[in-house]
Amino acid sequence: MGIEIRVEGLRKSFGRQVIWEDVTFTIPAGEISALLGPSGTGKSVFLKNLIGLLRPDRGHVYVGDGDVPRLRENELYEMRRRFGVLFQDGALFGSMNVYDNIAFPLREHTRKGEGEIRRIVQEKMEMVGLTGAEGKLPGEISGGMRKRAGLARALVLDPEIILADEPDSGLDPVRTAYLNQLFVDLNCELGATFLIVTHDIGTARVLPDNLGLLFRRGLVMFGPREMVLSSTHPAVNQFFNARRQGPIGMAEEKDQSQIDDEGAYQAMPAPIPPQLMPSDGRVRPSMRRPGEWLRRHQVKPPPGSFIDDEGRNWMTEWDELVAERRRPR
Ligand SMILES: Nc1ncnc2c1ncn2[C@@H]1O[C@H](COP(=O)(O)OP(=O)(O)OP(=O)(O)O)[C@@H](O)[C@H]1O
Ligand SMILES: [Mg+2]
Repeated sequence: MGIEIRVEGLRKSFGRQVIWEDVTFTIPAGEISALLGPSGTGKSVFLKNLIGLLRPDRGHVYVGDGDVPRLRENELYEMRRRFGVLFQDGALFGSMNVYDNIAFPLREHTRKGEGEIRRIVQEKMEMVGLTGAEGKLPGEISGGMRKRAGLARALVLDPEIILADEPDSGLDPVRTAYLNQLFVDLNCELGATFLIVTHDIGTARVLPDNLGLLFRRGLVMFGPREMVLSSTHPAVNQFFNARRQGPIGMAEEKDQSQIDDEGAYQAMPAPIPPQLMPSDGRVRPSMRRPGEWLRRHQVKPPPGSFIDDEGRNWMTEWDELVAERRRPR
């Protein structure tokens, strides 16, 4: 099963540049969480702090019974086995072909023989749609293929926690849809905890159980998808609805006079779409009843929420939907 990550009072700076301070939240075990934020707000730096590649100025990252910034080198090495990480640039070894890149963690961290390694590598390559690219060097494949090779490599050790830094950037929309489906299916099968950094609002709206926004040197909000997508918090509303109006500007922040000039622009959040479901017909393990968070907190759903492509309303027809999904085929 997945494992939670508890982040407490985390602060990170480079010289005099404070990236973020006092980041505190829990990434729930076995759920998919997504982290968004304007470029340069420190999302990649945050992921690197979670696995101990960068050290925070202060604060804690509790994973199991360890506190990542305080682990010794050998403990950190052990801890990293629990993570599968896809870096923003894929971080493949340039002189190694795709096959050897994906096999690398198995050779480094396990005693498996080459036969078994071949079986695992081929399975993961098929999963991400890379079959046939085994012998190519990273420099000889497209950016999207490098991403998928990085993802296959992140999966070979069956990690409890999967961190993915913009897995969907550089992918075409159809591949993005397949990738999102793959994440849901993996989460359902492995029960792993996911933290995905993305700029894709479409992905952010349908894939995760929880959403977070980094902005202005802090975590503005983190919580269940319904809470974030129905929020009227100016930055959250602006970001998740991809609008110009709001506190986020082209050069990261607008000043107050600019915000005042725009007036009290307060747009209704867009409808909350139904969540992606596993392709094998099951219901997501961490799935909450659509609309439950809203009802419990007496927040009205944005009009048109929870209607799927077939026109069904997941809020009112949820019991029927679940009964259909669980029925053996
Ligand atoms: N090793 C480093 N040394 C000094 N500054 C760094 C280092 N790594 C990142 N930074 C700075 O930290 C800030 C946050 O960088 P980061 O890559 O985490 O942004 P991001 O939110 O991932 O952006 P994007 O959405 O463009 O990927 C940037 O200003 C960057 O220049
Ligand atoms: Mg980044």
